[in-house]
Amino acid sequence: MENFVYYNPVRILFGEGKIAEIGHYVPKGMKVMMTYGGGSIKKNGVYDQVMKALTGTDVVEFGGIEPNPHYETLMKAVETARREGVGFLLAVGGGSVIDGTKFIAAAVGYEGEDPWNIVAKGTPVKAAMPLAAVLTLPATGSEMNCGAVITRESTREKLAFHCPLVFPRFSVMDPTVTYSLPKRQLANGVVDTFVHVMEQYYTMTEHTEIQDRFSEGILRTLVAIGPRIISADTPDYQDRANFMWAATMGLNGLIAVGVVEDWATHQIGHELTAFHGLDHGVTLAIVLPGVMEATKEHRRRKLLQFGERVWGIDPTAADAAEQAIARTERFFNSLGVKTRLGDYGVGMETIERIERRFRDRGRYAVGGIDDVNVDNVKAILVSRL
Ligand code: NZQ
Ligand code: ZN
Repeated sequence: MENFVYYNPVRILFGEGKIAEIGHYVPKGMKVMMTYGGGSIKKNGVYDQVMKALTGTDVVEFGGIEPNPHYETLMKAVETARREGVGFLLAVGGGSVIDGTKFIAAAVGYEGEDPWNIVAKGTPVKAAMPLAAVLTLPATGSEMNCGAVITRESTREKLAFHCPLVFPRFSVMDPTVTYSLPKRQLANGVVDTFVHVMEQYYTMTEHTEIQDRFSEGILRTLVAIGPRIISADTPDYQDRANFMWAATMGLNGLIAVGVVEDWATHQIGHELTAFHGLDHGVTLAIVLPGVMEATKEHRRRKLLQFGERVWGIDPTAADAAEQAIARTERFFNSLGVKTRLGDYGVGMETIERIERRFRDRGRYAVGGIDDVNVDNVKAILVSRL
């Protein structure tokens, strides 16, 4: 196990009815800017619940944050926040709204020339407006982490930043708000959570017993409840609650402690979204089996452990590694997610653009372990055609 510092200050309000408690945690006397997406919260009653809970608070709204939130849109929100003298941000939505709001929080008082540098160059953020979240889509873990992924439409770049100042002050997680999610988004959320765990678990660090068993617990939970969530005609509260908590635990820093993380699948997946607008979860379902195949010798010990503990595959079987990869891909397919680039009309031209982009960035390894790098990224993607 590696040395580590673990810090997570996010207060979680979990369970049915918890939105009503927001008023106790929003700082008094501040103008609140409520941010949201394309309008799902107005159809499923979440907007009304939040507004009721904020009775007596001065609220400004900023809607229209799109999936894979655009820098261009977020800069308009920054202008609104400055003009209105906002002091607190409340994100109501999925990962895109929460990530976008983290960027707004960091950009609003940013003194550098161009806030895009926060993402593009990792320029340090010295101050951020406080924010909180009402989560409506379990997937990203953004409700309990300090990362955000922002897309710049004009240049088709999708990049992440991390900063402890943008941890939400609190996040509300009411499983009943997920009842209105379409199956496609539920499937995306299960896949995203699965792959978050893999990025931190399917790595090279040894002697991480606690982290490994936490990770395997999350993966097994997803394997058990994922298909039920997709196929159920009526949502089951307990399944939704477990899914929601699994997604948070998958990316709130807990399973990352003491390990060298990877994130190669995400790095490659972000490029597919940047060039083709594919859903984040879909890109991961396409790329992960290719990354596992390319790394199966180097990471063999962990792959066999994963196969045995998550899928019950005999590690002494000659094809145990291949079975583990195949079971993973079949799991994604069982959720209704197609896992080939060809299924989405993506071909060689994009693969070459992606390879070029990684080379131009000048970093050899694509993730945290250099068995996925600029020399094999093309082959990985070709194997997924
Ligand atoms: O915009 P609205 O109308 O709200 O509709 C959204 C959107 O169309 C809809 N939706 C959300 N909650 C709903 C709902 N529809 C009905 N009922 C509900 N309760 O779902 C659609 C997708 O929403 P989005 O927020 O884009 O999805 P997700 O939560 O998967 O977030 C994806 C973004 O998060 C980033 C991704 O790259 C992507 O940009 N990630 C953020 C991470 C982080 N902050 O740590 C890590 C992840 O790896 C990921 O990269
Ligand atoms: Zn993800």
